[in-house]
Amino acid sequence: MNTLKEKFKAKAPLQKEEFNHLKQHQEHNIGSYNIGQVIGGMRGITGLTYETSLLDSNEGIRFRGYSIPELRDALPKYKDGTEPLPEGIFYLMLMNELPTAQDVADLTQEWLSRSTVPAHVYATLDSVPIATHPMTQFSIGIMAMQNDSLFAKAYHDGVNKSEYWDYMLEDVMNLIAKLPNIAAYIYNRTYKGGRTIEADTTLDWSGNFAHMLGYDSADFKEMMRLYLTIHVDHEGGNVSAHTTRLVGSALSDAYLSFAAAMNGLAGPLHGLANQEVIRWIFDMQADLKTDLPSEEQIAEYIQTTLKEGRVVPGYGHAVLRKTDPRFTAQNEFAAKHMPDDVLIQVVNRIYKVAPPILENTGKIKNPWPNVDAHSGALLVHYGMKEYDFYTVLFGVSRALGVLASLVLDRYLALPIERPKSETTKSLLQMVEAGATA
Ligand SMILES: CC(C)(COP(=O)(O)OP(=O)(O)OC[C@H]1O[C@@H](n2cnc3c(N)ncnc32)[C@H](O)[C@@H]1OP(=O)(O)O)[C@@H](O)C(=O)NCCC(=O)NCCS
Repeated sequence: MNTLKEKFKAKAPLQKEEFNHLKQHQEHNIGSYNIGQVIGGMRGITGLTYETSLLDSNEGIRFRGYSIPELRDALPKYKDGTEPLPEGIFYLMLMNELPTAQDVADLTQEWLSRSTVPAHVYATLDSVPIATHPMTQFSIGIMAMQNDSLFAKAYHDGVNKSEYWDYMLEDVMNLIAKLPNIAAYIYNRTYKGGRTIEADTTLDWSGNFAHMLGYDSADFKEMMRLYLTIHVDHEGGNVSAHTTRLVGSALSDAYLSFAAAMNGLAGPLHGLANQEVIRWIFDMQADLKTDLPSEEQIAEYIQTTLKEGRVVPGYGHAVLRKTDPRFTAQNEFAAKHMPDDVLIQVVNRIYKVAPPILENTGKIKNPWPNVDAHSGALLVHYGMKEYDFYTVLFGVSRALGVLASLVLDRYLALPIERPKSETTKSLLQMVEAGATA
């Protein structure tokens, strides 16, 4: 830890310098917005700075300036593996520099050394019905650890605000280190009769997670490294990232902020879409009585879904206007590791027929697939068919981005968030008076 903290302390002033430079331009106008945006989910209103990643509507996500293909190349790998280690992208997001293999190895060890979950957390999880959704269990598990927050304790003891980031970093490292253990516990408790699988301390963070979930093939571990890398972050306005920022802005600690974020990720328009995609495909296969429906059958099924007033899960995005590069990265992985998989063929057929149908509705702004359109099919291939669990995997990954960002929030001393709201009546009065807010 000392290594990472010392490095952060040495490097972070550059990030602050840039932010302070921005503060000198507070009067600079960067745009205007209209009532459509106010009542339309604040789409397109720039309302926050967020350093760890930035989304381009056509190109997709960049993490500290690097695209996913660039990072699959540049980030350190596990031994003779080909996929990046998520430890590396965490380092990049926090430090704003690419890690060396040693930086990543240090992080693996650091997280391993902090990974023991207090017994009362497992006892708390054991107290909820086994049918409780895994995301609810995940949130409960995170909240059960809040008692150990070093930030909350330091604040209570009157720590100087210039040191907030230090305690936040400690909490963030402790939390990230424990998430795979909690997630694996939930999986094994919910679906595998409560079996326990001891950690393999020779493995990396993702490899050990896969092992604790009961999946020990080298391919599954590689898939998990890719999966946990590409889901980490998607700039600052999405529900889970923004929730972390918002709750943290009240100086709530990392546990409170991240649990809140996970409650947002558990919504079907956000992270839960990954389970919904597989559920939707399984329902389609069952309804049509075939594992590999034709393109015509899929097209008809999509039309039916739309007629029923439901969304086609895995398609559309609030910001993206092209195929999500996270979809593409998974599709490349599938082509390499499971070229004949029937479910992957279904995913590819949907990719072929869905966009024109969605586009023809005339109202869906992005007819292209997002990350969730693909991820479940990879998991099913390796035997993980319990789709209710998928969003927990997303959550373990998302921790890396939003919590790296939370450390920066405290380092940059961001203020409490408090946007202004209006009533419908007060906005109508502005319209009538030709006034602005
Ligand atoms: C991601 C999502 C929430 C973005 O929402 P958004 O920014 O409001 O999207 P749009 O502006 O294109 O929405 C316009 C209309 O098209 C609908 N729409 C968007 N995507 C759709 C989809 N995949 N299937 C059916 N309808 C869709 C919206 O529900 C909205 O309908 P309404 O006017 O009747 O309320 C939306 O595309 C969606 O629900 N997708 C399916 C769920 C999903 O995959 N979520 C994961 C996102 S990473």
